[in-house]
Amino acid sequence: MRILVVGSGGREHALAWKIQSSPLCDALYCAPGNAGIAEDATCVPISATDIDGLVGFAEAEAIDLVVVGPEAPLVAGLVDRLRAAGIRAFGPSAAAARLEGSKSFLKELCARHAIPTARFARFTDAEAARAYVRAQGAPIVVKADGLAAGKGVVVAATVEEAEDAVTAMLEEGRFGAAGAEVVIEECLEGPEASFFALVDGHTALPLASAQDYKRARDGDLGPNTGGMGAVSPTPRLTAAMEARVLQEIIEPTVAALEATGTPFVGVLYAGLMLTADGPKLLEYNVRFGDPECQVLMARMRSDIVPALVAATEGRLNDVWVDWHDAPAVVVVMAANGYPDAPEAGTQIKGLDAAAASAKVFHAGTKQDSQGRVLAAGGRVLGITASGATTGEARAAAYRAVDAVDWPGGWCRRDIGADIA
Ligand code: AMP
Ligand code: GLY
Repeated sequence: MRILVVGSGGREHALAWKIQSSPLCDALYCAPGNAGIAEDATCVPISATDIDGLVGFAEAEAIDLVVVGPEAPLVAGLVDRLRAAGIRAFGPSAAAARLEGSKSFLKELCARHAIPTARFARFTDAEAARAYVRAQGAPIVVKADGLAAGKGVVVAATVEEAEDAVTAMLEEGRFGAAGAEVVIEECLEGPEASFFALVDGHTALPLASAQDYKRARDGDLGPNTGGMGAVSPTPRLTAAMEARVLQEIIEPTVAALEATGTPFVGVLYAGLMLTADGPKLLEYNVRFGDPECQVLMARMRSDIVPALVAATEGRLNDVWVDWHDAPAVVVVMAANGYPDAPEAGTQIKGLDAAAASAKVFHAGTKQDSQGRVLAAGGRVLGITASGATTGEARAAAYRAVDAVDWPGGWCRRDIGADIA
Protein backbone atom coordinates (compact mmCIF):
# COMPACT_ATOMS: atom_id res chain seq x y z
CA MET A 1 0.00 0.00 0.00
CA ARG A 2 1.00 3.60 -0.59
CA ILE A 3 0.32 5.48 2.65
CA LEU A 4 0.31 9.19 3.54
CA VAL A 5 0.51 10.45 7.14
CA VAL A 6 -0.66 14.05 7.66
CA GLY A 7 1.03 16.15 10.34
CA SER A 8 4.47 17.11 11.65
CA GLY A 9 4.60 16.33 15.36
CA GLY A 10 5.78 13.57 17.64
CA ARG A 11 2.45 11.80 17.20
CA GLU A 12 2.98 11.64 13.45
CA HIS A 13 6.57 10.43 13.89
CA ALA A 14 5.31 7.59 16.08
CA LEU A 15 2.60 6.74 13.52
CA ALA A 16 5.07 6.85 10.62
CA TRP A 17 7.57 4.68 12.53
CA LYS A 18 4.89 2.09 13.31
CA ILE A 19 3.35 2.13 9.81
CA GLN A 20 6.68 1.77 8.00
CA SER A 21 7.37 -1.43 9.94
CA SER A 22 4.28 -3.03 8.35
CA PRO A 23 4.83 -5.54 5.54
CA LEU A 24 1.72 -4.02 3.95
CA CYS A 25 3.42 -0.64 3.55
CA ASP A 26 5.19 -0.27 0.18
CA ALA A 27 5.68 3.50 0.23
CA LEU A 28 5.22 5.99 3.05
CA TYR A 29 4.86 9.77 2.74
CA CYS A 30 4.36 12.40 5.40
CA ALA A 31 3.03 15.94 4.88
CA PRO A 32 4.79 18.02 6.01
CA GLY A 33 6.77 15.82 8.45
CA ASN A 34 9.98 16.79 10.24
CA ALA A 35 13.67 15.81 10.41
CA GLY A 36 12.99 12.61 12.37
CA ILE A 37 10.03 11.54 10.27
CA ALA A 38 12.29 11.86 7.21
CA GLU A 39 14.07 8.70 8.42
CA ASP A 40 10.84 6.69 8.16
CA ALA A 41 8.94 8.42 5.36
CA THR A 42 9.38 10.70 2.37
CA CYS A 43 8.42 14.15 3.62
CA VAL A 44 6.47 16.40 1.26
CA PRO A 45 6.21 20.14 1.93
CA ILE A 46 2.41 20.41 2.16
CA SER A 47 0.91 21.89 5.30
CA ALA A 48 -1.47 19.71 7.37
CA THR A 49 -4.23 22.27 6.82
CA ASP A 50 -3.72 22.68 3.03
CA ILE A 51 -6.70 20.54 2.10
CA ASP A 52 -6.52 21.15 -1.66
CA GLY A 53 -2.79 20.41 -1.61
CA LEU A 54 -3.22 17.17 0.34
CA VAL A 55 -6.08 15.87 -1.82
CA GLY A 56 -4.12 16.78 -4.96
CA PHE A 57 -1.02 14.98 -3.71
CA ALA A 58 -2.98 11.87 -2.70
CA GLU A 59 -4.58 11.72 -6.15
CA ALA A 60 -1.35 12.35 -8.04
CA GLU A 61 0.58 9.75 -6.02
CA ALA A 62 -2.22 7.15 -6.04
CA ILE A 63 -2.25 6.99 -2.24
CA ASP A 64 -4.19 3.98 -0.88
CA LEU A 65 -4.57 5.18 2.71
CA VAL A 66 -4.32 8.62 4.33
CA VAL A 67 -3.84 8.70 8.11
CA VAL A 68 -4.64 12.13 9.57
CA GLY A 69 -2.79 13.06 12.78
CA PRO A 70 -4.02 16.46 14.01
CA GLU A 71 -7.53 17.73 14.70
CA ALA A 72 -7.54 20.93 12.63
CA PRO A 73 -7.72 19.25 9.19
CA LEU A 74 -10.30 16.77 10.50
CA VAL A 75 -12.56 19.53 11.78
CA ALA A 76 -12.00 21.38 8.47
CA GLY A 77 -13.25 18.39 6.45
CA LEU A 78 -10.08 16.82 5.00
CA VAL A 79 -11.49 13.31 5.30
CA ASP A 80 -14.75 14.29 3.56
CA ARG A 81 -12.75 15.72 0.65
CA LEU A 82 -10.50 12.66 0.39
CA ARG A 83 -13.46 10.28 0.46
CA ALA A 84 -15.23 12.36 -2.20
CA ALA A 85 -12.13 11.92 -4.35
CA GLY A 86 -12.29 8.16 -3.81
CA ILE A 87 -9.28 8.04 -1.46
CA ARG A 88 -9.43 5.89 1.66
CA ALA A 89 -8.84 7.98 4.78
CA PHE A 90 -8.50 7.07 8.44
CA GLY A 91 -10.16 9.77 10.54
CA PRO A 92 -13.62 11.23 11.13
CA SER A 93 -15.70 13.39 8.79
CA ALA A 94 -16.10 17.04 9.76
CA ALA A 95 -19.56 16.23 11.11
CA ALA A 96 -18.20 13.51 13.43
CA ALA A 97 -15.13 15.60 14.35
CA ARG A 98 -17.51 18.05 16.06
CA LEU A 99 -17.04 15.81 19.11
CA GLU A 100 -13.75 17.68 19.53
CA GLY A 101 -14.46 20.78 17.44
CA SER A 102 -17.49 21.94 19.44
CA LYS A 103 -17.87 21.54 23.19
CA SER A 104 -21.58 22.46 22.89
CA PHE A 105 -22.12 19.68 20.35
CA LEU A 106 -20.40 17.22 22.69
CA LYS A 107 -22.28 18.31 25.79
CA GLU A 108 -25.70 18.19 24.05
CA LEU A 109 -24.91 14.71 22.75
CA CYS A 110 -23.95 13.59 26.27
CA ALA A 111 -27.16 15.08 27.67
CA ARG A 112 -29.36 13.37 25.06
CA HIS A 113 -27.77 9.96 25.64
CA ALA A 114 -27.17 10.10 29.40
CA ILE A 115 -23.40 9.86 28.96
CA PRO A 116 -21.77 10.74 32.31
CA THR A 117 -20.15 14.17 32.13
CA ALA A 118 -20.06 17.43 34.14
CA ARG A 119 -23.35 19.37 34.40
CA PHE A 120 -23.25 22.35 32.03
CA ALA A 121 -24.94 25.39 30.52
CA ARG A 122 -24.20 27.20 27.20
CA PHE A 123 -23.98 30.95 26.65
CA THR A 124 -23.36 33.48 23.91
CA ASP A 125 -24.40 36.42 26.11
CA ALA A 126 -21.66 37.53 28.52
CA GLU A 127 -23.98 39.12 31.08
CA ALA A 128 -26.08 35.96 31.33
CA ALA A 129 -22.93 33.84 31.59
CA ARG A 130 -21.51 35.96 34.41
CA ALA A 131 -24.83 35.84 36.26
CA TYR A 132 -24.81 32.04 35.95
CA VAL A 133 -21.24 31.90 37.30
CA ARG A 134 -22.22 34.04 40.29
CA ALA A 135 -25.26 31.87 40.97
CA GLN A 136 -23.26 28.62 40.76
CA GLY A 137 -20.20 29.80 42.69
CA ALA A 138 -16.61 28.56 42.38
CA PRO A 139 -14.76 26.42 41.56
CA ILE A 140 -16.27 26.34 38.09
CA VAL A 141 -15.00 25.63 34.59
CA VAL A 142 -15.34 27.95 31.57
CA LYS A 143 -14.67 26.52 28.10
CA ALA A 144 -14.52 28.15 24.68
CA ASP A 145 -16.83 26.19 22.37
CA GLY A 146 -14.40 25.69 19.48
CA LEU A 147 -10.79 24.61 18.93
CA ALA A 148 -8.38 26.81 20.87
CA ALA A 149 -5.14 24.82 20.67
CA GLY A 150 -5.66 23.38 24.15
CA LYS A 151 -5.91 26.84 25.74
CA GLY A 152 -9.67 27.30 25.75
CA VAL A 153 -10.38 25.76 29.18
CA VAL A 154 -10.24 27.80 32.39
CA VAL A 155 -10.64 25.89 35.64
CA ALA A 156 -11.53 28.89 37.81
CA ALA A 157 -10.87 28.77 41.54
CA THR A 158 -12.86 31.95 42.14
CA VAL A 159 -16.02 33.55 40.73
CA GLU A 160 -13.93 36.53 39.63
CA GLU A 161 -11.56 34.37 37.61
CA ALA A 162 -14.52 32.67 35.91
CA GLU A 163 -16.15 36.02 35.14
CA ASP A 164 -12.87 37.25 33.64
CA ALA A 165 -12.69 34.16 31.44
CA VAL A 166 -16.25 34.78 30.23
CA THR A 167 -15.41 38.41 29.46
CA ALA A 168 -12.21 37.46 27.61
CA MET A 169 -13.99 34.87 25.47
CA LEU A 170 -17.37 36.47 24.79
CA GLU A 171 -16.57 40.19 24.86
CA GLU A 172 -12.87 40.52 24.05
CA GLY A 173 -12.73 37.80 21.39
CA ARG A 174 -9.78 36.01 23.02
CA PHE A 175 -10.23 32.90 20.84
CA GLY A 176 -12.01 34.54 17.92
CA ALA A 177 -14.92 32.52 16.56
CA ALA A 178 -13.93 29.54 18.75
CA GLY A 179 -14.88 31.62 21.81
CA ALA A 180 -18.11 33.12 20.48
CA GLU A 181 -20.00 30.59 22.60
CA VAL A 182 -18.91 29.25 25.99
CA VAL A 183 -19.80 26.15 27.94
CA ILE A 184 -19.76 26.56 31.71
CA GLU A 185 -19.35 23.36 33.65
CA GLU A 186 -19.48 21.97 37.11
CA CYS A 187 -15.92 21.40 38.40
CA LEU A 188 -15.28 17.68 38.76
CA GLU A 189 -12.74 16.18 41.10
CA GLY A 190 -10.61 13.09 40.85
CA PRO A 191 -7.62 11.63 39.05
CA GLU A 192 -7.57 12.01 35.27
CA ALA A 193 -6.92 9.31 32.72
CA SER A 194 -7.24 8.86 28.98
CA PHE A 195 -8.64 5.95 27.04
CA PHE A 196 -8.30 5.29 23.32
CA ALA A 197 -10.47 3.24 20.97
CA LEU A 198 -10.50 2.61 17.23
CA VAL A 199 -13.96 3.11 15.73
CA ASP A 200 -15.30 1.99 12.34
CA GLY A 201 -18.63 3.81 12.40
CA HIS A 202 -20.36 1.05 14.34
CA THR A 203 -17.89 -0.92 16.46
CA ALA A 204 -15.41 0.42 19.02
CA LEU A 205 -12.23 -1.60 19.43
CA PRO A 206 -10.60 -0.66 22.75
CA LEU A 207 -6.90 0.15 22.47
CA ALA A 208 -5.26 1.17 25.75
CA SER A 209 -5.17 3.72 28.52
CA ALA A 210 -2.69 6.50 29.15
CA GLN A 211 -1.99 9.25 31.62
CA ASP A 212 -0.62 12.57 30.47
CA TYR A 213 1.21 15.41 32.17
CA LYS A 214 -0.21 18.69 30.90
CA ARG A 215 1.50 21.25 33.12
CA ALA A 216 4.89 22.69 32.27
CA ARG A 217 6.62 22.20 35.62
CA ASP A 218 7.37 19.31 37.93
CA GLY A 219 4.67 18.53 40.45
CA ASP A 220 1.93 19.51 37.97
CA LEU A 221 2.70 23.20 38.38
CA GLY A 222 3.06 25.98 35.83
CA PRO A 223 1.10 26.75 32.69
CA ASN A 224 -0.82 24.21 30.62
CA THR A 225 0.99 22.80 27.61
CA GLY A 226 0.17 20.39 24.81
CA GLY A 227 1.57 17.67 27.10
CA MET A 228 5.03 17.25 28.62
CA GLY A 229 4.94 13.47 28.86
CA ALA A 230 2.74 10.41 29.10
CA VAL A 231 2.62 6.89 30.47
CA SER A 232 0.71 3.87 29.14
CA PRO A 233 -1.03 2.02 30.63
CA THR A 234 -2.17 4.00 33.67
CA PRO A 235 -2.93 2.05 36.84
CA ARG A 236 -5.66 4.61 37.48
CA LEU A 237 -7.90 2.74 35.02
CA THR A 238 -8.52 -0.82 36.17
CA ALA A 239 -9.93 -3.38 33.73
CA ALA A 240 -13.33 -2.99 35.38
CA MET A 241 -13.16 0.78 34.97
CA GLU A 242 -12.14 0.42 31.31
CA ALA A 243 -15.18 -1.77 30.72
CA ARG A 244 -17.40 0.93 32.23
CA VAL A 245 -15.79 3.63 30.07
CA LEU A 246 -16.45 1.53 26.99
CA GLN A 247 -20.02 0.69 27.93
CA GLU A 248 -21.16 3.95 29.51
CA ILE A 249 -19.25 6.50 27.45
CA ILE A 250 -17.66 5.31 24.21
CA GLU A 251 -20.28 2.86 22.90
CA PRO A 252 -23.26 5.21 23.42
CA THR A 253 -21.30 7.97 21.63
CA VAL A 254 -20.57 5.73 18.64
CA ALA A 255 -24.22 4.63 18.51
CA ALA A 256 -25.48 8.22 18.74
CA LEU A 257 -23.34 9.37 15.82
CA GLU A 258 -24.28 6.35 13.73
CA ALA A 259 -27.98 6.98 14.41
CA THR A 260 -27.74 10.59 13.18
CA GLY A 261 -26.12 9.55 9.91
CA THR A 262 -22.71 10.94 10.84
CA PRO A 263 -20.84 7.77 11.84
CA PHE A 264 -17.47 8.18 13.52
CA VAL A 265 -14.44 6.54 11.89
CA GLY A 266 -11.01 6.98 13.43
CA VAL A 267 -9.55 7.13 16.93
CA LEU A 268 -11.72 8.27 19.77
CA TYR A 269 -9.67 9.61 22.67
CA ALA A 270 -11.73 10.01 25.83
CA GLY A 271 -10.37 12.42 28.46
CA LEU A 272 -11.81 11.16 31.75
CA MET A 273 -12.17 12.28 35.34
CA LEU A 274 -12.41 9.31 37.70
CA THR A 275 -14.83 10.78 40.21
CA ALA A 276 -16.33 9.26 43.34
CA ASP A 277 -19.47 8.67 41.19
CA GLY A 278 -17.51 6.78 38.54
CA PRO A 279 -15.76 7.80 35.32
CA LYS A 280 -17.02 11.00 33.70
CA LEU A 281 -16.15 12.38 30.28
CA LEU A 282 -14.21 15.67 30.31
CA GLU A 283 -13.70 15.86 26.57
CA TYR A 284 -13.23 13.87 23.40
CA ASN A 285 -10.40 14.23 20.98
CA VAL A 286 -11.01 12.75 17.55
CA ARG A 287 -7.40 11.65 16.95
CA PHE A 288 -4.49 10.12 18.78
CA GLY A 289 -3.07 12.21 21.61
CA ASP A 290 0.31 13.86 21.36
CA PRO A 291 2.43 12.62 23.19
CA GLU A 292 0.11 9.72 24.16
CA CYS A 293 0.42 8.22 20.66
CA GLN A 294 4.16 7.76 21.21
CA VAL A 295 3.60 5.41 24.16
CA LEU A 296 0.73 3.60 22.45
CA MET A 297 2.84 2.90 19.36
CA ALA A 298 5.74 1.75 21.56
CA ARG A 299 3.40 -0.74 23.23
CA MET A 300 1.49 -2.00 20.18
CA ARG A 301 2.79 -5.40 19.16
CA SER A 302 0.53 -6.05 16.17
CA ASP A 303 0.76 -4.44 12.79
CA ILE A 304 -1.32 -1.25 12.90
CA VAL A 305 -2.09 -1.08 9.18
CA PRO A 306 -4.73 -3.86 9.05
CA ALA A 307 -6.55 -2.19 11.96
CA LEU A 308 -6.51 1.23 10.29
CA VAL A 309 -7.81 -0.28 7.04
CA ALA A 310 -10.48 -2.31 8.88
CA ALA A 311 -11.68 0.87 10.60
CA THR A 312 -12.22 2.52 7.21
CA GLU A 313 -14.17 -0.52 5.97
CA GLY A 314 -16.47 -1.08 8.95
CA ARG A 315 -14.68 -4.34 9.75
CA LEU A 316 -13.16 -3.77 13.19
CA ASN A 317 -14.97 -6.88 14.39
CA ASP A 318 -12.51 -8.90 12.26
CA VAL A 319 -9.28 -7.49 13.70
CA TRP A 320 -7.34 -7.89 16.85
CA VAL A 321 -4.77 -5.53 18.32
CA ASP A 322 -2.17 -7.06 20.54
CA TRP A 323 0.07 -5.26 23.08
CA HIS A 324 3.43 -5.65 24.74
CA ASP A 325 2.94 -6.03 28.49
CA ALA A 326 5.84 -3.67 29.16
CA PRO A 327 4.65 -0.18 30.11
CA ALA A 328 6.02 2.78 28.16
CA VAL A 329 6.95 6.31 29.16
CA VAL A 330 7.49 9.36 26.91
CA VAL A 331 9.33 12.43 28.16
CA VAL A 332 8.86 15.52 26.01
CA MET A 333 11.86 17.83 25.53
CA ALA A 334 10.73 21.37 24.71
CA ALA A 335 12.61 24.42 23.49
CA ASN A 336 13.57 27.04 26.06
CA GLY A 337 10.71 29.52 26.37
CA TYR A 338 7.95 26.96 25.64
CA PRO A 339 4.96 27.27 26.01
CA ASP A 340 4.99 31.08 25.69
CA ALA A 341 7.77 31.87 23.22
CA PRO A 342 9.87 28.85 22.25
CA GLU A 343 13.32 29.65 20.93
CA ALA A 344 13.85 28.26 17.42
CA GLY A 345 17.02 27.22 15.63
CA THR A 346 19.13 25.88 18.51
CA GLN A 347 21.25 22.85 17.61
CA ILE A 348 20.49 19.41 19.08
CA LYS A 349 23.32 16.90 19.45
CA GLY A 350 23.67 13.50 21.08
CA LEU A 351 20.65 11.94 19.37
CA ASP A 352 22.56 8.77 18.44
CA ALA A 353 23.72 8.32 22.04
CA ALA A 354 20.14 8.84 23.25
CA ALA A 355 18.90 6.19 20.82
CA ALA A 356 20.87 3.57 22.76
CA SER A 357 18.32 3.54 25.59
CA ALA A 358 15.12 4.93 24.03
CA LYS A 359 13.29 5.70 20.81
CA VAL A 360 13.68 9.37 19.99
CA PHE A 361 10.58 10.65 18.24
CA HIS A 362 10.93 14.09 16.69
CA ALA A 363 8.16 16.59 17.32
CA GLY A 364 9.53 19.91 16.08
CA THR A 365 12.86 19.60 14.30
CA LYS A 366 14.40 20.39 10.95
CA GLN A 367 17.72 19.58 9.35
CA ASP A 368 19.91 22.33 7.91
CA SER A 369 22.05 22.11 4.77
CA GLN A 370 24.97 20.73 6.80
CA GLY A 371 22.86 17.94 8.24
CA ARG A 372 22.56 19.48 11.70
CA VAL A 373 19.31 18.91 13.59
CA LEU A 374 17.76 22.17 14.80
CA ALA A 375 14.79 22.93 17.06
CA ALA A 376 11.81 24.12 15.03
CA GLY A 377 8.86 24.12 17.38
CA GLY A 378 7.73 24.25 21.00
CA ARG A 379 7.73 20.57 21.81
CA VAL A 380 10.79 19.27 20.00
CA LEU A 381 11.54 15.64 20.99
CA GLY A 382 9.53 12.78 22.53
CA ILE A 383 11.92 10.37 24.21
CA THR A 384 10.09 7.07 24.53
CA ALA A 385 11.14 3.92 26.38
CA SER A 386 9.60 0.67 27.59
CA GLY A 387 10.55 -1.36 30.64
CA ALA A 388 9.47 -4.25 32.83
CA THR A 389 7.87 -1.67 35.12
CA THR A 390 6.91 1.96 34.64
CA GLY A 391 9.89 2.81 36.86
CA GLU A 392 12.30 0.98 34.55
CA ALA A 393 10.76 2.57 31.46
CA ARG A 394 11.06 5.95 33.13
CA ALA A 395 14.71 5.36 34.05
CA ALA A 396 15.54 4.37 30.46
CA ALA A 397 13.74 7.42 29.07
CA TYR A 398 15.65 9.77 31.38
CA ARG A 399 18.97 8.06 30.55
CA ALA A 400 18.29 8.96 26.94
CA VAL A 401 17.23 12.50 27.90
CA ASP A 402 20.56 12.92 29.69
CA ALA A 403 22.42 11.76 26.57
CA VAL A 404 20.84 14.52 24.49
CA ASP A 405 23.20 17.48 24.22
CA TRP A 406 20.88 20.44 23.82
CA PRO A 407 21.36 23.52 26.00
CA GLY A 408 18.40 25.09 24.16
CA GLY A 409 15.89 22.62 25.61
CA TRP A 410 14.33 21.41 28.86
CA CYS A 411 11.94 18.75 30.16
CA ARG A 412 9.97 17.78 33.24
CA ARG A 413 11.87 15.43 35.54
CA ASP A 414 8.86 13.70 37.10
CA ILE A 415 7.05 12.03 34.21
CA GLY A 416 5.75 8.71 35.53
CA ALA A 417 7.24 9.34 38.99
CA ASP A 418 3.81 8.93 40.61
CA ILE A 419 3.60 5.34 39.33
CA ALA A 420 5.65 2.59 40.96
P1 AMP B 1 -9.80 19.81 28.08
O1 AMP B 1 -9.06 20.73 27.14
O2 AMP B 1 -11.27 19.78 27.92
O3 AMP B 1 -9.12 18.48 28.22
O4 AMP B 1 -9.55 20.42 29.52
C1 AMP B 1 -8.24 20.63 29.95
C2 AMP B 1 -8.16 20.25 31.40
O5 AMP B 1 -9.08 21.04 32.14
C3 AMP B 1 -8.55 18.81 31.69
O6 AMP B 1 -7.50 17.93 31.48
C4 AMP B 1 -8.94 18.92 33.14
O7 AMP B 1 -7.77 18.92 33.95
C5 AMP B 1 -9.57 20.28 33.23
N1 AMP B 1 -11.04 20.20 33.14
C6 AMP B 1 -11.82 20.23 32.04
N2 AMP B 1 -13.11 20.13 32.37
C7 AMP B 1 -13.17 20.04 33.71
C8 AMP B 1 -14.23 19.91 34.67
N3 AMP B 1 -15.51 19.89 34.30
N4 AMP B 1 -13.89 19.84 35.96
C9 AMP B 1 -12.60 19.89 36.36
N5 AMP B 1 -11.57 20.01 35.52
C10 AMP B 1 -11.84 20.08 34.21
N1 GLY C 1 -1.86 15.44 24.97
C1 GLY C 1 -3.14 15.98 24.82
C2 GLY C 1 -3.68 15.98 23.45
O1 GLY C 1 -3.15 15.39 22.53
O2 GLY C 1 -4.71 16.60 23.26
